[in-house]
Amino acid sequence: MKHLAIFASGAGSNALKIIQHFKNSTSAKIALVACNKPGSGGLKIAGQENIPVLMIEKKLFDTSGYLEELKRRNIDFIILAGFLWKLPPPLINAYPSKIINIHPALLPSYGGKGMYGNAVHAAVITAGEKQSGITIHYVDDKYDHGEIIFQKTCPVDQNETVESLARKVHELEHTYYSKQIEKLLNTNYP
Ligand code: GRF
Repeated sequence: MKHLAIFASGAGSNALKIIQHFKNSTSAKIALVACNKPGSGGLKIAGQENIPVLMIEKKLFDTSGYLEELKRRNIDFIILAGFLWKLPPPLINAYPSKIINIHPALLPSYGGKGMYGNAVHAAVITAGEKQSGITIHYVDDKYDHGEIIFQKTCPVDQNETVESLARKVHELEHTYYSKQIEKLLNTNYP
């Protein structure tokens, strides 16, 4: 049984989908939800699903990555879902190719520091892009930079608004993130 940790500090809608997806799995379980925002959606969902939570604090995270805590809980794989802090070297080095992220645009465009949430969709629309989408990628020491695992596009329509594009992209995330995680676990880490 693989032990997965989800790092989620936002609304937690992706965390919820992933938790639901693996609820009855015999090969992987969500063993931890880590979060840096008290009262966030991810924490509430973890509470409802009886999943242990880890509240993380910036200074300690930047120095240790909470590595001991993760190892103590036998975490094999880390899923970022709405987690904005850059991961520190101890964590990146301890989990090579075992930390993934989802980004709400088609990387390598529209990524990097400050490119999150509606800022991403606003930039895509302002640039007149005809399509946007999602990117699932490995995490390295730069924002939104590691090797790309999966992308899916959606059209940006003429009257597209930030809100309507955000909805479309979230839908793609909810449809594909869990499936891609499962595929990755089965094929790359059987
Ligand atoms: C998602 O759009 C994801 O692409 C980004 O953060 C957002 C998290 O949304 N990394 P939610 O908290 O899962 O609803």
